[in-house]
Amino acid sequence: MKRVLTYGTFDLMHYGHIRILKRAKALGDYLVVAVSTEEFNSLKGKKTYHNFETRKKMLEAVRYVDLVIPENTWEQKFDDVRRYEIDTVVMGGDWEGNEKFEVLKDKCEVVYLPRTEGISTSKIKKDLGMVN
Ligand code: CTP
Repeated sequence: MKRVLTYGTFDLMHYGHIRILKRAKALGDYLVVAVSTEEFNSLKGKKTYHNFETRKKMLEAVRYVDLVIPENTWEQKFDDVRRYEIDTVVMGGDWEGNEKFEVLKDKCEVVYLPRTEGISTSKIKKDLGMVN
């Protein structure tokens, strides 16, 4: 059983999110998604439309997702990899080469997948005239 883990905010879920979840799941048999909490987002200066519970429930409804856990800190990644016996951490290409994920290469495989062109939560907010 190969276990895959990915991180994200997944606000205003869109097809870029669905595509990365599908491709992440295809790299293994069991997909864990760590979704950022409101507290962690405010630390990053990010504000979501949907609260943590709603984003979690929506992710749980996606067929590729087996388990949703909270992302509370930058530092929890080593713990997550150990606790959930993760073989592969997957992130979108916007994180390619970022130290926060590169350091995990001692413990598991780290894979960056190309982002889906032309869509993002920020773009949806901007196009609808919402403040990001
Ligand atoms: N993602 C992707 N393709 C997109 C948008 C997001 O592959 N078009 C991936 C990201 O690389 C990340 C995951 O989906 O691995 C969750 O991304 P998140 O930051 O929650 O979504 P964004 O749409 O990028 O949000 P924002 O615009 O607020 O940065």
